[in-house]
Amino acid sequence: MSSASSRISGFYRLPPAERRRKLLELARLPADGFAALDPGALTLELADGMIENVVGVYALPFAVAVNFLIDGADVLVPMAIEEPSVVAAASNAARMARPGGFSTVASAPVMIGQIQITDIVDVDAATAALRGHAEQLLGDARRLVPRLAERGGGPVALEVRPLARSGPDGGVVVVHLHVDCRDAMGANLVNTLCEALATQVAELAGGRPGLRILSNLTDGRTITVRCTIDDDRLASEEASGPEVRAAIAAASRFAELDPYRAATHNKGIMNGVDAVLVATGQDWRAVEAGAHAYAARRGSYGPLAVWRERPGGLDGELVMPMAVGTVGGALHVHPGARLALDLAGAHAANRLGAIAGAAGLATNLAALRALATEGIQRGHMALHARGLARAAGATGDLIDRVAEELAATGDVKADRAREVLARLCSPHMVKNTP
Ligand code: MEV
Repeated sequence: MSSASSRISGFYRLPPAERRRKLLELARLPADGFAALDPGALTLELADGMIENVVGVYALPFAVAVNFLIDGADVLVPMAIEEPSVVAAASNAARMARPGGFSTVASAPVMIGQIQITDIVDVDAATAALRGHAEQLLGDARRLVPRLAERGGGPVALEVRPLARSGPDGGVVVVHLHVDCRDAMGANLVNTLCEALATQVAELAGGRPGLRILSNLTDGRTITVRCTIDDDRLASEEASGPEVRAAIAAASRFAELDPYRAATHNKGIMNGVDAVLVATGQDWRAVEAGAHAYAARRGSYGPLAVWRERPGGLDGELVMPMAVGTVGGALHVHPGARLALDLAGAHAANRLGAIAGAAGLATNLAALRALATEGIQRGHMALHARGLARAAGATGDLIDRVAEELAATGDVKADRAREVLARLCSPHMVKNTP
């Protein structure tokens, strides 16, 4: 979607069928679009072709976070996740980030393949020989992937890194092959290239070929996401905008000082990122591994996103590796993942990375704002109360009324929800309800 607005007030109050109708209309998708998520859409047969020893298909809630404006375009953000609050948090933070929204910068989609060479007698000579043949090796690598080169991608650089002069593996050198993978995540592509070049590389180095595999520290394939939040949007019931702004900046500094806090801060970012990656059929473990290695790249573990005060508001910036693809992988077969990409309008890897990154910065902002003010439990409990109200059988306005009463008394339990609902539905109450 690009023209219709993703700012859908009260989306969370609609019944699921109505939410579906609205989304299909906004994303201009066929009326049966959500069949891709219904039970049986990913058949046992398809699943059996995806992984080994299949005995079933595992379901997760699939939701859409609203209000996102990313690089000037409205985006419906698909999320698959088991944790309550994340989708609501993302939508709330995206609303705070409007009208400017999120702006993003994607690096070129360059992945790194590693070819390890061991048992080298003279590491300096091996390094010099490999560097001297870098152009020839690159040319050989390019000839192996002519179609990728036609699409503007392919091997772009070769780097030689001496790792050890002696030790249990003798002299060790690793060759990095940098490959622009365009819209593919590129794991298969990069691994194939590394395997194809390894013998030649080992001969040039006078050593033995070791591992030939991509690195998940994809620091050549990053996404940068920025947003600015004005004070009036940060204010809460208890705290003014400037107070919340200062508290969020202090929370960011805490993460910069302390790896124990940085891990939790980054978990809040990955809540948003992973939910988008799972919904869109990505290798989220690869992005997780890259994110945490990148967070530790300076020698101590730090936050992937930081928040700084400026007069009248707050600036946030997230930088992280983002190895995602919109072709290949599970996308060939997974109907739900394809629907997710269609809903988000993410048909290029860079765009998908931008959306996942924006979701991550949004969930980080929402978590810090809650932590810096009332704490996260109140919001969690309010959402939990709505869930219990629904489970007790409440519909329409009754969901809010039951949830509000549960939250107000602090007794947020299933049997209480049933009691409150029964009372609100009793003939006496119905008569007296305006
Ligand atoms: C919970 O899933 C995520 C948070 O712990 C993140 C944070 O502490 O910043 C709330």
